[in-house]
Amino acid sequence: MKHLITPNDLTNEEIEELFEDAKLFKDLKSNNLLDGKIVVTLFFESSTRTRSSFEIAAKRLGADVVNLEVNTSSTNKGETVEDTVANLNAMKPDAIIIRHKDCGLPESLKSYVDCPIINAGDGKNAHPTQALLDLFTIDEHYNGDIEGKNIAIVGDIANSRVATSNLELLPRFGLNPILVAPKRFKVTSSFKTVSNIKDVIDDLDIIMSLRVQHERHEITASPEKQAKQKEKYIKKYCITKKLMGNRDILLLHPGPVNRNIDISDEMLLDPRSKVLKQVENGVAIRMAVLKKFILQKSE
Ligand code: CP
Repeated sequence: MKHLITPNDLTNEEIEELFEDAKLFKDLKSNNLLDGKIVVTLFFESSTRTRSSFEIAAKRLGADVVNLEVNTSSTNKGETVEDTVANLNAMKPDAIIIRHKDCGLPESLKSYVDCPIINAGDGKNAHPTQALLDLFTIDEHYNGDIEGKNIAIVGDIANSRVATSNLELLPRFGLNPILVAPKRFKVTSSFKTVSNIKDVIDDLDIIMSLRVQHERHEITASPEKQAKQKEKYIKKYCITKKLMGNRDILLLHPGPVNRNIDISDEMLLDPRSKVLKQVENGVAIRMAVLKKFILQKSE
């Protein structure tokens, strides 16, 4: 049984095959490839894009979707996540998609199921389908000519599962990540790391802006200090038209965007911003992922 927990669960060849399927699914038309299959989604953390994208992808393939509302599930009565998943598995779904704040939880659930587990984000650990749709969007933009492109990953790298999964995936396809972050959001890494995006902007082909992940921060600073930190952060890390100039840089963000903190209103409207293209591509990628992981099970 194959599960998708991190991008490293897929070989480069498998990813190329997924991308071929995703290109076919790009028209987002419905088909019946997964007719009669049932997909369960289990989101213990908030989501707009990933949850609805998986649901739409499953429905476009003809599968039925059961969204377990965790706020009204028996986890409220003390049931563990492991028991919840084992009980759902006993109802014989064809895949379980899970998001949870605990790093490593989806991996630990593998032994409780006999259907694929698809990780929709675990803490700061991994978000494999986000990294796949990011790579797909980059590949599409450059018509496959991505070898040697420089991508700045900007912001709260230390707390971002999107950064973790992209740093795992993008170098496998020849991209060069450059990490841009204030000291408190940096990670120990072999990739070039800078504090000021202006030091590298002329070398960049792509910017991936990240949201500050407040939900994973321990707040120790006073409200005044936090306000000052925020002001300083915006000045240095918000992607604005002034910073971009007329450079030919592809601008990405996984969402949700905190407007005028991560990216300015003006840059979100700029044709170089492909934030909504990422969302559109996310459905095609998730259709390809569901097809691969669900049909492998019945082969
Ligand atoms: N990119 C992403 O994971 O967005 P959601 O949190 O809305 O799913």
